[in-house]
Amino acid sequence: MKAQMTTAAGNGTVASVRVWDVPVRVFHWLLVISFGAAYLLGDSERWRQIHVMFGYTVLGLIAFRILWGFVGTRYARFTSFLHGPRAALRYVGSLASRKPEHHVGHNPAGSWAVYAMLALGVATGLSGYLTLNEFGGDAVEELHEILANTWLVVVFVHVAGVIASSVAHRENLARAMLTGYKRGDGESIRASVSSPRRPIVGVLLASAVLIFWLGSLLIGGPTIIERSSQATMAQTAEDDDD
Ligand code: HEM
Repeated sequence: MKAQMTTAAGNGTVASVRVWDVPVRVFHWLLVISFGAAYLLGDSERWRQIHVMFGYTVLGLIAFRILWGFVGTRYARFTSFLHGPRAALRYVGSLASRKPEHHVGHNPAGSWAVYAMLALGVATGLSGYLTLNEFGGDAVEELHEILANTWLVVVFVHVAGVIASSVAHRENLARAMLTGYKRGDGESIRASVSSPRRPIVGVLLASAVLIFWLGSLLIGGPTIIERSSQATMAQTAEDDDD
């Protein structure tokens, strides 16, 4: 389907194109929740199992996204956002100009952040798995923490990049990640083609994650409660000793 033309009052014609399919959007927001929750619970002995549950979710989501990067829709495919470092620098430079470069899918700088986040997600998840199973000792545990913190830094860069591009293109890119649509009067948008929605794949992905969460909470629930009360008792005993 060609980009749909709509009219914006006083602004000539504005094209609207569906860029992000449902699976990419479901993946994105579930990754935000899972990374955020795993990071926040990382230091807590009491919530260790929930931290691990979100860690496995991150690994599962990224495994899906890698597969979708090969078989997914147009803008979800890795081949649509393979850009060299020079293209990334040129894009960043163009943001300050009067006519910033416009890209329908991921821009060249954003693509680097996306690849970095996918790689850091895999590395953080795997080092967490090794730590949980006591392979590699303190060094691997330390590495797990370093990777998680590096990932957080890249997330800040990513969000700053999304804000900068949104301002430069006068377009709310965060909203596009919710609705799937990008709007704009750039040539690239006018000439582009909408992606199919693929809602069933998105629903299957969301269902798999929800079932995994419910199953983990039902099976691990008693252990989590037992552990948290043990941790509370140990903490109280420590406080009493002090
Ligand atoms: C609330 C803050 C966030 C906002 C507003 C946001 C927004 C976006 C937007 C607009 C895109 C598309 C970028 C583009 O137009 O090229 C994107 C892509 C992406 N974001 Fe975020 N993001 C947020 C937080 C995060 C976090 C916390 C993570 C990782 C844990 C993350 C990981 C990703 C990934 C991996 C992609 C690539 C999506 C794909 O192609 O599958 N984002 N984000």
